[in-house]
Amino acid sequence: MSSKIKKIAVLTSGGDSPGMNAAIRSVVRTCAYMKVDCIAIYRGYQGMIEGDFKSMDARSVNNIINKGGTILKSARCNDFRTPEGRKMAHDQLVKAGIDAFVVIGGDGSFTGAMIFNKEYDFPVIGIPGTIDNDIFGTTFTLGFDTALNTVVECIDKIRDTASSHNRLFFVEVMGRDVGHIALNAGVGAGAEEILIPEENLGLDRLLESLKRSKESGKSSSIVIVAEGDKSGKNVFELKEYVEEHLPIYDVRVSVLGHMQRGGAPSCFDRVLASRMGVKAVEALLEGKTSLMVGIQDNKITLTPIEKAIKGHTKIDKELIRVSEIMTT
Ligand code: F6P
Repeated sequence: MSSKIKKIAVLTSGGDSPGMNAAIRSVVRTCAYMKVDCIAIYRGYQGMIEGDFKSMDARSVNNIINKGGTILKSARCNDFRTPEGRKMAHDQLVKAGIDAFVVIGGDGSFTGAMIFNKEYDFPVIGIPGTIDNDIFGTTFTLGFDTALNTVVECIDKIRDTASSHNRLFFVEVMGRDVGHIALNAGVGAGAEEILIPEENLGLDRLLESLKRSKESGKSSSIVIVAEGDKSGKNVFELKEYVEEHLPIYDVRVSVLGHMQRGGAPSCFDRVLASRMGVKAVEALLEGKTSLMVGIQDNKITLTPIEKAIKGHTKIDKELIRVSEIMTT
């Protein structure tokens, strides 16, 4: 294949997610396969601004497919939000002879890439890496599946204590704006109630459901609460509220936090990362730009980055219905 693109850079940006290393490996190895130079950019856009670059070959990414986090480090970079910062980044890329880059990250990282592409007509392709699964144009983001498995494993353990002590647990999971982790892990872990930002069913309904559950003979319960839930109360306030209104319950709280972002990626995320990395490099070599790689109907797809940023993912209503039936 003859292409104007001879040197491709790869960086990870924003919050890390399991599968980022597998995607880096895929980009680097695809470049090696296509006989294109590959450069790693460390510390996201900050490293781009500072010229923190390193040449990569196929062997540079040995034994990382199974590692959580990102070997390239990541950062949320304020300087890249300014025209001056982006000018410095462009100067560094030109100086290093880099023709295009692949950014692995979430919507903030894609917004930076899109603005940069518009300003400098610089070829960029995005790979969605975030545990939140909140990017339009892909059914799955890298790290979502692994995070779900981590959350379910934790809740299974919490359930042991919940049932031994006849307790009610509020478990807070990540998801600032979306409830995909909460809903999916909630169904997978058999939660009694799932509180997500997309649906505010009200606190009365929560009390009703907990009361019904006790009356139906359940001795313990798990309620999953997404970080961005709109009930107006955080998990600790929910605990107090339930204790006050339903003193029959002995309530505890568990905030899972950043453990959800760590750990070895699942097989699903490794395969997805490998497929996405190949597509990202191929797209650049074909002269495509400002697109995000995604997966839809098990096919690897390309969506304009602008659409990916502006579009909204929808919560799965059918899964909400399933979760309601399962709590009978
Ligand atoms: O976007 C990924 C995410 O893990 C969110 O679920 C969470 O709200 C946020 O990042 C936490 O960000 P930080 O690691 O900067 O505290």
